[in-house]
Amino acid sequence: MATLLLAKDNTTVTNFEEIKNLLQGHGIMIAKWEASCALADDSSQETILEAYAHELKPFMDKFGYTVADVINVHPNTENLPAIREKFMKEHTHSEDEIRFFVDGFGKFWFHLDNEEIICVTCERGDFMSVPKNFRHWFDLAPGYFVKAIRIFSNMEGWVPNYTGSGIDQNYNKTYN
Ligand SMILES: [Fe+2]
Repeated sequence: MATLLLAKDNTTVTNFEEIKNLLQGHGIMIAKWEASCALADDSSQETILEAYAHELKPFMDKFGYTVADVINVHPNTENLPAIREKFMKEHTHSEDEIRFFVDGFGKFWFHLDNEEIICVTCERGDFMSVPKNFRHWFDLAPGYFVKAIRIFSNMEGWVPNYTGSGIDQNYNKTYN
């Protein structure tokens, strides 16, 4: 279940409806999806997409998305520091960034229009849609385990446009 950190007051919101309403106020969508069958740790991309087809397909049809795939990052993935580095700097995309967490954990940091910073920790069952051009960054440390469905209308839209603000450095932790 997702949790939301309000960095300014260092308070954490754990009630899902409260998190949903708070994010909705900024145009960010969060939802809970359930698999239609049990998934093994080594389930294939096809099996995972099939298990969530009842959620995935209506969403993709409704909003006109055409491509979905599954990414799998785990502690044995090569070049983990470089992968982390790529995600953890503030950036935007020209397309919405849509993720569904099949397993593992990830932190989405959002730089709101009112300049506040919030962080949503996502885990199994959490679906997030971040609007295009929204300032954000993502961290997969310290667990380095994320299995997620990505949904696209245009793969090129997912290229990060770094803002170069450096604000992420005030929040990202160093792990040894
Ligand atoms: Fe992103």
